[in-house]
Amino acid sequence: MTSPPPVAAKAASPAQSPAQSPAASSVTSPAAQAARRRTFAIISHPDAGKTTLTEHILLAGGAIRAAGAVRARGENRRTRSDWMKIEKERGISVSASVMTFEHEGLLFNLLDTPGHEDFSEDTYRTLTAADAAVMVLDAAKGIEPQTLKLFEVCRLRDIPIITFINKMDREALDPYALLDEIGAKLALDPAPLYWPAGSGNRFRGMVDLRDGRFTAYTRTGGEEGFEKLALNSNAISRVLDPDEKEEVEEGAMLVREASKPFDVTSFLEGHMTPILFGSALRHFGVGELLEVLGAYAPAPGPMAAEKAGAATHVAPGDPEVTGFVFKVQANMDPNHRDRIAMLRVCSGRFQRGMKLKVQNTGRQLSVNAPIMFMASDRELAEVAYAGDVIGIPNHGVLRVGDSLSESGTVRYAGLPNFAPEILQRVRVKDPLKAKHLKKALEGLAEEGVTQLFRPMIGSDFIVGAVGQLQFEVMADRLANEYQLEVLFEPSPFAEARWITGAKPDLEDFMGKHRQAMGQDIDEQPVFLGKSAWEVSYVTERYPKITFLRAKERG
Ligand code: G4P
Repeated sequence: MTSPPPVAAKAASPAQSPAQSPAASSVTSPAAQAARRRTFAIISHPDAGKTTLTEHILLAGGAIRAAGAVRARGENRRTRSDWMKIEKERGISVSASVMTFEHEGLLFNLLDTPGHEDFSEDTYRTLTAADAAVMVLDAAKGIEPQTLKLFEVCRLRDIPIITFINKMDREALDPYALLDEIGAKLALDPAPLYWPAGSGNRFRGMVDLRDGRFTAYTRTGGEEGFEKLALNSNAISRVLDPDEKEEVEEGAMLVREASKPFDVTSFLEGHMTPILFGSALRHFGVGELLEVLGAYAPAPGPMAAEKAGAATHVAPGDPEVTGFVFKVQANMDPNHRDRIAMLRVCSGRFQRGMKLKVQNTGRQLSVNAPIMFMASDRELAEVAYAGDVIGIPNHGVLRVGDSLSESGTVRYAGLPNFAPEILQRVRVKDPLKAKHLKKALEGLAEEGVTQLFRPMIGSDFIVGAVGQLQFEVMADRLANEYQLEVLFEPSPFAEARWITGAKPDLEDFMGKHRQAMGQDIDEQPVFLGKSAWEVSYVTERYPKITFLRAKERG
């Protein structure tokens, strides 16, 4: 394993510093426990290396023993959670779940985001439960469309982003060009912490711009670690020839001059991204990434909420246990209708068996069998703190966006629902089963598998999805779990926008557009447009109505 950079300790602010040994795991105050947690997700365009990096992070963190454990092959890899296999082995099946591991006195929660781009809405929701994100770029491709989309969501939430430029063992774009692209396309200040020496066959390693130490890339390094040498030492000649040494020294000097120095505050505010280079496949740069996450990524912080109707902030150290559901997953076992709600804990000390109340329904729930993931000791299986994610099995009581707390009075701002990009009409083949279809679709919509709209005129349901694959998943689940064979047909509508405004304005607008009005599952009014043009036309004509692409739930 590589040794931590000397800057790691000094960079952490007191609130973020790891709980000091010797008693990291015996710290029990909720504030101290929260301070040693790092809850993060990895985002990337498909094929940039998210799965490979996930695997190597888990390897570096000791959560798995051998590479290959995380990977599902072929189609499975594309359509299911990256962690399906592990989940199967453990007898649970929760996509977008979390992997927990301890490393250097810190507790990391890595949230899995589904790999396929059609599941981006799931990914968006998962990001609301993360305190930081690692953005993986393919060094030969730079910023790709999906990277940009996901980045926009991170920005919506001001999630700090660490950039990992992957696949340096292959021919890469010029690193300066990559920095420029990050600056231009993401409007983020790129702050390289390392600078690479070459790429592809000529990849020799990278220099730490903070202390001048060079991590040499050798094919024999791998999980055993890579050699670190001072760039000005004699030993460096073993890994760099004089030309290469000059090139990397010059590069490091130039980039130090050309880019802003790394500033933790700017990073935490979402203006700056620290940049690392590496090769997930070769395990190169993975230890460094964990060190950077440990040193700079934020521990869970205070969260904006409403308590008994008044705006407030809930701090991780507050005694009351609170959290919100960011994902609901049906149990894969078709004989059970159990669902698992993924709760991000935001404060207090959660203990198994605790009673929590759902804010909007007032229902109380005894959490007797919470699921935690890759727990390394018993205490973890019984207890959770801010930053942790627990899976709560339930029978449809919990919905995405629900806030849970001991008092039942805390409400977190809702999770976004995004305007679907494809709308289709759904019909059940057997007309006698129309009633069942309604229930089934509502179930799937509550889980966030689809969005459901009921036009004001007519009896059809319109389902919306971000990508085509979501319809396939929907059809499959309707057939297997609800014994309903359905047909998707083209819908007359192409765009959906939630509308808000003063009551008389809304009523006036809705009265004039009855043919294009619908309701979502929460009975909120939705304008269903035939085209993007129509949406922009009404937006201009009705300035008192706000047309929203995303709706916060909860
Ligand atoms: P994703 O989850 O972001 O979609 O990407 P994934 O990790 O599945 O990686 C996509 C491909 O890129 C895989 O190759 C993987 O082995 C390769 N890869 C990931 N990181 C690196 C790296 O650092 N260097 C190199 N050279 N390749 C990397 P594949 O051929 O599509 O799949 P497989 O046959 O290896 O499973």
